[in-house]
Amino acid sequence: MLTVAVLISGAGSNLRALLDAAAEPGFPARIVVVGADRQADGFAHAEAFGIPTVLVPFREFETREEWGDELRRQIDVWTPDLVVLSGLMRLLPTALVDAWAPALINTHPAYLPEFPGAHGVRDALAAGVTETGASVIVVDGGVDSGPILAQERVPVLPGDTEHTLHERIKPVERRLLIDVVRAIAEGRTDLAAVAASAASDLP
Ligand code: GRF
Repeated sequence: MLTVAVLISGAGSNLRALLDAAAEPGFPARIVVVGADRQADGFAHAEAFGIPTVLVPFREFETREEWGDELRRQIDVWTPDLVVLSGLMRLLPTALVDAWAPALINTHPAYLPEFPGAHGVRDALAAGVTETGASVIVVDGGVDSGPILAQERVPVLPGDTEHTLHERIKPVERRLLIDVVRAIAEGRTDLAAVAASAASDLP
């Protein structure tokens, strides 16, 4: 049974989808802890499932590195096999990525490498594209630049706002995330091999 830590910052709708999936008989992974860099509304989903939460407020630390060290110390208590960033709106310090990767994945509401960064939905709208997407990647040292594990196109419709487009993307994001976690748990996706292959492709 793959043990999973999920890190969030906001509503945690993607976390909720993962919690619901993990509650299904036969799902090969279970969430053991939910962490956040701020008092996230999504903690309510963890509490509803009786899953421990870890709050490490970014603003209480002098540096990103000190925050990352404390987050790692608290999450590693559960020795998760996989750490999922699902709505964590914070870049992890390099030392933390190095400690957890490649068993560290992230969901992003765009068709990477298109529109990386904190405003992927807003940027796609501003670019006037007719389609964007959702992606699940292995986290590397960059911003949404790691190897892609799954992605799918999502249409941009006339009159879309950032909210309506994001709400159309999120269900796709959730389905991809659940499928990726299941594939990792069942050994059909080997994160070390994916990361090594990506590293060998670097110029
Ligand atoms: C998701 O689209 C995630 O990819 C992005 O922010 C959104 C978080 O939504 N970083 P939620 O907190 O899971 O509802």
